[in-house]
Amino acid sequence: MQWSSVARSCLLLGLVGAAAPVTAQDATGVAAGKKYYYESVLPRLAENGCPQCHAAGYLRPNVGVYNDMLRRLAIGDSPANNAIIYKIANIRSIAPDRPNHPGGQRCATVESEPCKTVMKWWSIEFGAAEQKP
Ligand code: HEC
Repeated sequence: MQWSSVARSCLLLGLVGAAAPVTAQDATGVAAGKKYYYESVLPRLAENGCPQCHAAGYLRPNVGVYNDMLRRLAIGDSPANNAIIYKIANIRSIAPDRPNHPGGQRCATVESEPCKTVMKWWSIEFGAAEQKP
């Protein structure tokens, strides 16, 4: 499970790499994504209560660890289509009374917080140049 997530992340990152050759600007982009995560995303997640479950013990992802979150963000192909948004906006649950996230639906819609900020983070990490803020 863990390994296949990593493998899929690598595949996706590989595809992103193939679409745009790595340049000095991309290296800056990686740092910008990490900065944005800690300065803008994590505070939104904290407001929402994620750390109550996702910053203690064995539960993954640990929202205090950028790479733990990035690995899930990388599973998918757009701001609204990735493993984090699926969980916290409760998209693709198998039945309405069975949320696909044990922590429940955390965003009323993908356009409300903290999903909105997570989608912006996706664009910073993986978006095409024109999608970047
Ligand atoms: C009440 C506790 C609780 C809260 C609050 C909570 N979660 Fe969760 N979350 C869980 C549990 C339990 C799982 C299942 C973990 C597993 O399967 O290993 C989970 C799973 C996840 C997963 C999928 C993990 C994976 O490896 O596939 C993500 C992503 C996630 N949560 C993000 C969040 C975010 C972001 C927030 C806040 C917006 C949040 N959760 C709030 C309990 C919670």
